[in-house]
Parts: sequence; structure tokens; C-alpha cells
Amino acid sequence: MLVDTFGRTATDLRVSLTDRCNLRCSYCMPPEGLDWLPKPELLTDDEVMRLVGLAVRDLGVTEVRYTGGEPLLRRGLPDIVRRTAELAPRPQISLTTNGIGLDRLAGPLADAGLDRVNVSLDTLDPETFKRLAHRDRLDDVLTGLAAARSAGLEPVKINAVLMRGINDHEAVPLLRYCLDHGYRLRFIEQMPLDAQHGWTRHDMITADEILERLSAAFAIAPDEEHDRGSAPAESFIVDGGPHMVGVIGSVSRPFCGACDRVRLTADGQVRNCLFATEESNLRDALRAGADDAELAERWRKAVRAKRAGHGIDDPSFLQPARPMSAIGG
Ligand code: 5AD
Ligand code: SF4
Repeated sequence: MLVDTFGRTATDLRVSLTDRCNLRCSYCMPPEGLDWLPKPELLTDDEVMRLVGLAVRDLGVTEVRYTGGEPLLRRGLPDIVRRTAELAPRPQISLTTNGIGLDRLAGPLADAGLDRVNVSLDTLDPETFKRLAHRDRLDDVLTGLAAARSAGLEPVKINAVLMRGINDHEAVPLLRYCLDHGYRLRFIEQMPLDAQHGWTRHDMITADEILERLSAAFAIAPDEEHDRGSAPAESFIVDGGPHMVGVIGSVSRPFCGACDRVRLTADGQVRNCLFATEESNLRDALRAGADDAELAERWRKAVRAKRAGHGIDDPSFLQPARPMSAIGG
């Protein structure tokens, strides 16, 4: 098992399959993009499967989430999903995507064994989308969402990040859209993870503000019936139910104490936290011929070093050197 010194066990593995993306969301990367990882540094499909297989068979991982960058850009994705579904015990398999390309891939991915998707959608206005993501692709995202639902990748979850002065007037329309289409919406507080270091506390729309905005149009009540468990989202009942909305207060309401995540970057580094400043290089060990026992021990050691929390509120907080797109969401 992957246990840390605070008694948390990591069972949810997030694997970034590429640091590249076809959008440029401003909370993530600059309009000109980033210096992408060179191909030889990326894990091959077989290397990904060696490490995911080890995590599932020997390290107690029960859920595998493929992320990026944009994981749909990884050519071998359906095959990686299929091989993941063949592992025993079979893990839950999910995908975090911006939705572009899902219209074509949702069916094949569902057939390969994908269980669920999380799709990013921050706005319903094409102009705002262009401003926020620097690409004119809103229609592709909406088509992708519909395809995910048709392919049975349900519940389709939507992640939305509100940014002050850009899309923070869209909390209500986004929720209405998601309720109308049967998608489960979760708002995420903007975290200091962008490559250009543009995050400021002042511009972050807090969980409290999100709830306040929603309350202008809906009756929002905390869901006291269901235990939040390790889920980062706090659930709220909309208009008496059965509809729900989630709010992920990563910064203002941290949930580090219940965190069950561990991350593997596209270049084969284990990160014990989104905000970790250190990584453990499994790729080089693997390429140097390490056996499963040695890789497993390195992995356990990396998780043991996990800190109690991200410390964003601490004056000594340091933003990680690598942006979200390289870490995997
Ligand atoms: N803060 C909050 N959420 C972010 N995401 C990407 N960067 C940030 C950030 N700085 C979201 C994306 C996607 C998920 C992986 O995380 O919108 O839904
Ligand atoms: Fe791409 Fe996701 Fe970053 Fe947006 S947040 S630029 S969709 S990797």
C-alpha cells in the first residue's frame, strides 16, 4: 500500500499521458504554449502500463484517472484504457479532458472499458471561450459532452473554473445548462498552478462567492446526508433536489487531510501532491532495468514523504516548478 506518515493511503492514481494541449486556458498556460517535453522523455505506452499495472497489482491503487495536458491527444489512449481494464483487480478508469475529440473517441473509449469522464467547461459564450482558452472551440466541447453521455460515460462530470472579470458572471447559466443536459457540475477554485504565475488571491473566486452567486437563482443547501469521504467536492442540493452541484474549495477549504491521490507525470515522475516540490524518477529507474520490487519501493518512499497539506496560505508557500499541464490534474 501507498501510505504516508499522516495515515493517508493513496488509492487514486492520476496519470498524465501528455503535457500538450489544444487549448490555452489562461489559468493553466500562456497563449503561446509551453516548451513541450521531448518525446524520448515521455513514457511509452508499455512503460505506462508497466507502472500502472504495478500500482494496481501491488500498491493498492483502485482508481486510475488519465489526464494531461489533454489526454485525447495521446494516440494510444484507447489501447491504454483497454489494457488498464484487463488488470486484476480491475480498477475504476476515468478521464479528465477538455472534451475536444470526444465526439469521435467517446464510443471507442467506452468500448475499451472507460467508466467515466470529467470535462472542463468554463463558459457557454463563444467569445468568452476564445478569450479564456485562446481557441474558438466551444462547439467542439459541447459536441464532445453530448457524445460522452450517448456513449454511457455517466455521470458526465463538468469542471468549471471561474475567473474574476472573465467568466464569473456565468455561474448560474453554467449550472442551468448542466441541469438541463444531465451533467454534474463542479466549480473548482482557481489554484496557483499556471505556468505564467498569474494567480492572485484577489482574483480567485472563492467557494463562498460561488455559492453566493448560485444562491441568486437557486435554493442551495448543503448535502448533509452523504459523507464527503475523500472527494474534494462539497455537494449541495439544488432547489430541494434531486439535482446537485459541487464546489471544490481547493484553496479556501482545503481537503488535504482526506487526500487519497498520487500522481504520475507523462515523463514518469511520481508526485505525492499537486503542489509537491519534489518528484521521484521512476522512468530512469525503469529504463535502467529496475525490477517491480525496486520500483514499488521507490513509489512507497515517494508517498511516505507526502506533506500534511499544500500550505497555499503559508507565507513560505512555493508554487511548484511544473505547471498543471505537466503534472496532470
Ligand atoms: N486551478 C483550478 N483548476 C485548474 N484546472 C487546470 N488548471 C487549474 C487551476 N490553476 C482544471 C481544469 C481541468 C482540471 C484538470 O483542472 O479546468 O478541469
Ligand atoms: Fe489544456 Fe486543460 Fe490546461 Fe485548459 S486546463 S490549457 S484544457 S491542459
